[in-house]
Amino acid sequence: MKLFDVYPLYPIELVKAQGSTVWDKNGQEYLDLYGGHAVISIGHSHPTYVAKMTEQLSNIGFYSNSIHITGQAELAEKLGRVSGYPSYQLFLTNSGAESNENALKLASFHTGRKKVVAFTKAFHGRTAGAVAVTDNPSIVAPINDTSHVTFHPFNQIEGLSDVITEETAAVIVEGIQGVGGIQVASTPFLQALRQHCDETGAQLILDSVQCGYGRSGKFFSHQYAGINPDMMTTAKGMGNGFPIGGVLIAPHIQASYGLLGTTFGGNHLACTAANVVLDIIEEENLLANATQIGTYIEQELAGIQGIKEVRGRGLMIGIELEEAVGPIRDALLHQHHIFMGYAGKHTLRLLPSLAIDQAIADRFLESLRSVLKG
Ligand SMILES: Cc1ncc(COP(=O)(O)O)c(C=O)c1O
Repeated sequence: MKLFDVYPLYPIELVKAQGSTVWDKNGQEYLDLYGGHAVISIGHSHPTYVAKMTEQLSNIGFYSNSIHITGQAELAEKLGRVSGYPSYQLFLTNSGAESNENALKLASFHTGRKKVVAFTKAFHGRTAGAVAVTDNPSIVAPINDTSHVTFHPFNQIEGLSDVITEETAAVIVEGIQGVGGIQVASTPFLQALRQHCDETGAQLILDSVQCGYGRSGKFFSHQYAGINPDMMTTAKGMGNGFPIGGVLIAPHIQASYGLLGTTFGGNHLACTAANVVLDIIEEENLLANATQIGTYIEQELAGIQGIKEVRGRGLMIGIELEEAVGPIRDALLHQHHIFMGYAGKHTLRLLPSLAIDQAIADRFLESLRSVLKG
């Protein structure tokens, strides 16, 4: 059997990782500033993470949601406290798309409505509901094409009252658009969404899959705007590479047996991963580190020729270049051995571990200066 060929691949095979360093099978060392797409939050193979995961696996790795799993309750308590949402409820999933899918379903169950407002350049995942609210027709299969979704220009307040109405079940928005090129949702825009949802009863979902879990320097990027969503969705950095996602659900949305479900979501190993990640985020002060190192990088980038604009918050940084991003990214990877992300034709995306230090930042800045000088 062949693999279903949907990913263009770099001819690199990684065999080892530690912190922000990864090694290929030939022993070549790379600096990882991409974190496997914003997934590596506390650093690769963190010793505490490895020890706790190994211990959990040797005790019990998996059982389904038909029994009590103490790691789930521990995670709900810890996540509520660390994120600043102690009164919310937690539903555990396996991925970002599944989190969004369940948040959309909950909004629809709760309101009894079908319509959703989403935004231009949004990305919310590949499952049926998530892809329907994703603004990219090329990934929407005919079966997922629905008239229930209205796309409104991102960050545009004008016209919101026409699209968010008493027929709207949910408004779904990223606090910082990732795939859309690191575009930060403005404070007035997020506050206007909250107000229109309050006026109409629509449920506000903040997709925090990429911009959440401390990446922006606050636990959730919308906390810069001082709003409280009805639901937040998470995944990526939550398990530092072990698949786990979640929906944080406001207290007014009621659970009932059978309303949602999953086989794998919230299993023993996944909860252990997520609990260690939150412990390390707290113990190593990673939110403060994301702000400090992110601010340093942004300030330094401002002085580099060939950069048109720097966007983002904390360690979610978009670097818009004057030239095409492909050759720059290739040069960083093949000549300087640095993994980076990208968005669109001109934007480099920096999504490193939240634990990077200034020496790593300087190594990246020096390499970028050298590549852009050509
Ligand atoms: C903002 C956002 N939402 C949802 C997803 C989908 O997450 P997953 O690939 O875990 O399903 C992504 C993935 O890149 C994302 O960036």
